[in-house]
Amino acid sequence: MKNKPPLPCADFAGVIQQRRSTRKFEPGRAVERAALDRIVDCGRWAPSGANSQCWDFITVDDPGMREAVRQVFLKQAARLLEHARGFPAVGKDYLKNTVAIILALGDPRWKVCFPQPTRPEWEQEYKDNNEAIFLCSLGAAVQNIQLGVTAEGLTSAWLSGGGEDSINRELSALLGYPPWMKAYATIPVGYPVKSQDRRYRRPLDQVRHWNRYQPAQYRPHAMVDFYESTIRPFAMYRDREDLRDWPDFRKRLGDWAEAFTAAHPNPGGKLEAEADFSRPRTAGPATKARRRR
Ligand SMILES: Cc1cc2nc3c(=O)[nH]c(=O)nc-3n(C[C@H](O)[C@H](O)[C@H](O)COP(=O)(O)O)c2cc1C
Repeated sequence: MKNKPPLPCADFAGVIQQRRSTRKFEPGRAVERAALDRIVDCGRWAPSGANSQCWDFITVDDPGMREAVRQVFLKQAARLLEHARGFPAVGKDYLKNTVAIILALGDPRWKVCFPQPTRPEWEQEYKDNNEAIFLCSLGAAVQNIQLGVTAEGLTSAWLSGGGEDSINRELSALLGYPPWMKAYATIPVGYPVKSQDRRYRRPLDQVRHWNRYQPAQYRPHAMVDFYESTIRPFAMYRDREDLRDWPDFRKRLGDWAEAFTAAHPNPGGKLEAEADFSRPRTAGPATKARRRR
């Protein structure tokens, strides 16, 4: 086979790095349907388990419908404040001024196309695996769409709230899709009020393990606890890749400064046993409002 010419990778990496979650958009902007179709077409080309293409995409560009979808998400944000206290919440002008909102629906019927167990004792294992294949397929499509948005000079976010049953029921009634399908991602599209080119990312030397897992790169349980309870809202919204560029870096990070910014958060290389990871384990300044469960 003849070699294909390499793609201009600098542009490609630029699109990946500039894709940003934006929740505030410039008013008075519009975009033609052809651009929206190019964006959704990126989703269509995503890989999926067994090529099941277990998705549909609804592009909402009608202003009345966009506002109706926004209202559902305002309720979802209010619900988060009440039902999931401590999670960074979003403001009242949330999702105004989009040029379109794209909903990525997952269609669970297609899970039967993934590997199925031949004996009851393997049922759970394959059920979990089917779910993972389904969700990863949807994630690939949503990411392709988000990259398509960036390549068009627009910006977006990924709202997972449509995947909550109560919100999904409202969206399905509003948009007419079967209630057993689910809006795993709702993607507001617009022009950002301010450009945010960067966001906190772990250093490559901490994330990438050569050939086998390197225990020195392991993040201890307490580091997860610290992120969740103390720095999460800043790491989610600040326009900096490197935490050391935060003006209050030392104050916010304290004893964790090195672990979050260096290659080896766990220099001793000792791994820990599994614990109960199903719920937050500590409270801190970022979660003090969390209701006791
Ligand atoms: C599966 C998933 C669910 C997310 N859900 C939400 C959400 O419901 N609301 C929101 O504002 N952002 C949501 N996000 C966006 C993340 O907060 C965001 O990707 C992260 O803070 C990193 O910022 P960046 O996308 O600008 O790099 C979600 C992202 C993913 C991948």
